[in-house]
Amino acid sequence: HLLDFTEWSVDELMALLDTAEVMAQVLTRTIKKVPALQGFTVASLFFEDSTRTRLSFERAARAQSADVLTFSAGGSSLKKGESMRDTLRTIDQLQVDLYVVRHSSAGAPHQISRWTDAAVVNAGDGRHAHPTQALLDAYTFRAARREATGASLPGAEAFAGQRLAIVGDIGHSRVARSNIELFTALGAEVVLCGPPTLVPPELRSRHGVSVTTRLDEAVEGAAAVMALRMQKERMVTGLLPSITEYVARYQLTERVMRQAGPGAVVMHPGPMNRDVEIASPLADGP
Ligand code: CP
Repeated sequence: HLLDFTEWSVDELMALLDTAEVMAQVLTRTIKKVPALQGFTVASLFFEDSTRTRLSFERAARAQSADVLTFSAGGSSLKKGESMRDTLRTIDQLQVDLYVVRHSSAGAPHQISRWTDAAVVNAGDGRHAHPTQALLDAYTFRAARREATGASLPGAEAFAGQRLAIVGDIGHSRVARSNIELFTALGAEVVLCGPPTLVPPELRSRHGVSVTTRLDEAVEGAAAVMALRMQKERMVTGLLPSITEYVARYQLTERVMRQAGPGAVVMHPGPMNRDVEIASPLADGP
């Protein structure tokens, strides 16, 4: 399973990034397919909306010759009252080898892993974890560091002592939690920045993590700056005075990025609220 990073060593995480690099080469060929998963069945179980994660998993599974089943809660018998466990029992009869699970409740992929013999990959559960998004961000970060330095940076060298600034709605973000876990494990420093109401106290005391409410301080010398979406669907009212004030203090812009380190990369996991947490010229820029 890949549910979160608690049982993964740095060597195993680096092996995942290195394998992804090899697989990415496949997508540059005329025939974008290898037989690595021939005979296996991958099912995407999405109990919560998604564009990027669901489609990229399905694309990846097909590129490795797996058979793919797609389940979305919206059009399913959950609407008729079927429980999640019975839904899983039904799909399990179709001989699935790997489930890719997204759910709005933290822990749902862990629960599913106890109900099936198949492997489970967490594609985002509540505010808890989004490990494959963090792996993708680490992959992007390493590629950007290589480009900025011209060095090959094997192993965890690309991360050691580097700073990742994460800006925005950290409290509601599983992406922030998984990136904190992954980047600090790889030796990077993570700076969290946002209004105090959106930065939860339990993240402030973690090893390798610091917190600031000042955007210029967070971005100063950073190798990467990640903007996070305002998660209005998870937000209770009263956490922000107004969006206008948020934009004035925390929006990532080209001007703000001038304070970042040389070759710094801008990241956003998507979906974006354009011109809220990130200005369009920056989002659309190089
Ligand atoms: N980054 C991400 O998880 O996007 P989706 O919600 O579209 O899958």
